[in-house]
Amino acid sequence: MRGPQAPEYIRKLAVYVPGRPIEEVQRELGVSDIVKLASNENPLGTSPKALIAIQKAMATVHRYPDGGGFALRKAIAARHGVDIEQVILGNGSCELLEMLARAYLADGDEAVISQQSFVMYEIAVDQVNGRPIAVPCATGRRHDLDAMAAAVTEHTKLVYVANPCNPTGTYNTRAELDRLIASVGERAIVVLDQAYQEYVDRPDYPDGLADLKAGRNVIVLRTFSKIFGLAGLRIGYGLGSVDVIATLNRVRSPFNTSSLAQAAALGALDDDDWMDRSRDHNLAELRFLERELTRRGVRFTPSVTNFVLIELEGDVREMFVEFQKRGVIIRPVSGPGLAGCARVSVGTRAENERFLTALDALVPSSVA
Ligand SMILES: Cc1ncc(COP(=O)(O)O)c(C=O)c1O
Repeated sequence: MRGPQAPEYIRKLAVYVPGRPIEEVQRELGVSDIVKLASNENPLGTSPKALIAIQKAMATVHRYPDGGGFALRKAIAARHGVDIEQVILGNGSCELLEMLARAYLADGDEAVISQQSFVMYEIAVDQVNGRPIAVPCATGRRHDLDAMAAAVTEHTKLVYVANPCNPTGTYNTRAELDRLIASVGERAIVVLDQAYQEYVDRPDYPDGLADLKAGRNVIVLRTFSKIFGLAGLRIGYGLGSVDVIATLNRVRSPFNTSSLAQAAALGALDDDDWMDRSRDHNLAELRFLERELTRRGVRFTPSVTNFVLIELEGDVREMFVEFQKRGVIIRPVSGPGLAGCARVSVGTRAENERFLTALDALVPSSVA
């Protein structure tokens, strides 16, 4: 059947490849008892307060949600000490990345990104026929924020900074971020994507909230998908100036976040016990994984997040399949400087041991 064609920039769009769902691998390979370490989810589950809130909210799912998400935005604003008009909700923070591109990029406008960073930045920019300008990383697979600042031109509207960065697990310091923001000035909005912020335990890690409060030209993105354990409900938020948030609201679809997601996030937001438990667990298991990788002579990038980027010898796609046959889903990554790399999320101790057992079967190691 012939019909109208999508424009060329849509036809050549890359398709985002998510971590493989457990059920799909079970179906395809006939393997039961699968461990998924592919999407940086919380291996402990979901905040119990969120689960209680979801139960309560179930009674009203025949109603449309509050499109503006008033109660959740109010709670987020109070928690962070900003005005409610500075908060916007997204169907995951991914939707906010896309809304930023839709709102700020016209044909050919530029967005500066880092080469080894979250693939959705480039896709979001390509979707609106913008021009992603990908800047190589500095040593240690960290964003080169000075080079990114130098890449800003009069056509640049957005600078996407993943801090910490997925898939590298690295972060940029306060001093580096200050230089970037000062250099960009009013020319572009610096998008500070802090999806993994809660996991970072470094004193020189900069929380973009301070930049927002200092009146700098930034938008901070956070998500409930990671430490809060709500990836399946799709909810995240942005904190920006009143003006930027009002602009984003123009391109937001009317009921972009569901009532269950809003209720769950509201329940999870102040669950500090859950956060502490999840953070402590992650740190201990991340250290365990890094120690075990070091012992085996497997190269990896030291991480401040809930995942680690490892370097495998040989064809990473083949290794990916071999891991699955052993019941472990990891995430192969690709792109400049990432040949042979895979990302492994931090799991429970039992899950991490399953990964290491599969690794030992597949990679000749120096372990005695
Ligand atoms: C750096 C980064 N930003 C944003 C997201 C999006 O998360 P979500 O859309 O689930 O909020 C992810 C998810 O993996 C991520 O790694």
